Amino acid sequence: MNIYFTNFPDLPTERLHLRAISEQDAEAIHKLQSDSVVNAFVGRNITSTLESAKAYVLRMRTLVQKNECIYWVIASKDNNTFIGSVCCWNFDLENEIVEIGYEMLPEFQGKGFMTEALKAVIEYTFGTIKANLITAFPSSDNNNSVAILKKLDFVFENESYNNKHQNIKNLTTYTLRPQTH
Ligand SMILES: CC(C)(COP(=O)(O)OP(=O)(O)OC[C@H]1O[C@@H](n2cnc3c(N)ncnc32)[C@H](O)[C@@H]1OP(=O)(O)O)[C@@H](O)C(=O)NCCC(=O)NCCS
Repeated sequence: MNIYFTNFPDLPTERLHLRAISEQDAEAIHKLQSDSVVNAFVGRNITSTLESAKAYVLRMRTLVQKNECIYWVIASKDNNTFIGSVCCWNFDLENEIVEIGYEMLPEFQGKGFMTEALKAVIEYTFGTIKANLITAFPSSDNNNSVAILKKLDFVFENESYNNKHQNIKNLTTYTLRPQTH
């Protein structure tokens, strides 16, 4: 797989700009990570502060520099406002598997933004990273996430591929392969 992100892959879509995270995003990250519903669905139990959000921004930038993940801010194309994020991580080089994770500020949900962002990320993951399988691990209670995955042709699996998420309740596995996409 091609997991070298030195030239950060900006991904434009019709309404969005998927771009690198910067220090200016810390406040929005703090807001996102303070939302108890979002936190429950991504298995995050930390209490966010502006300081922890700033540290998170730096951590994400470092992980991208080290090619350990690719983390995009989903921003509005009109005014660069932070809407949410999507990342590819947990690279399994041997089996060519990439996990995706995503989250969005509640006020931007229900507008189709995440579907639009994930379509671009799926194209990138199969087309450029050359993954053979994309995994996602939503809680079965997470109706919005399960709906989006099904809409994008992900299929439910009985087997759990490389699941590293101990803190998500009722976790399920969904996968997408290039040939079914
Ligand atoms: C999961 C999550 C990203 C889904 O967000 P979402 O807003 O439901 O997803 P979308 O942006 O694709 O919006 C979908 C809905 O927007 C509506 N919509 C409004 N305008 C639209 C447009 N122009 N284009 C497409 N859909 C539009 C549609 O009704 C669509 O629902 P439908 O497909 O049933 O018709 C969001 O709920 C979230 O951040 N949850 C918390 C974190 C989380 O769970 N992360 C995933 C962990 S596995």
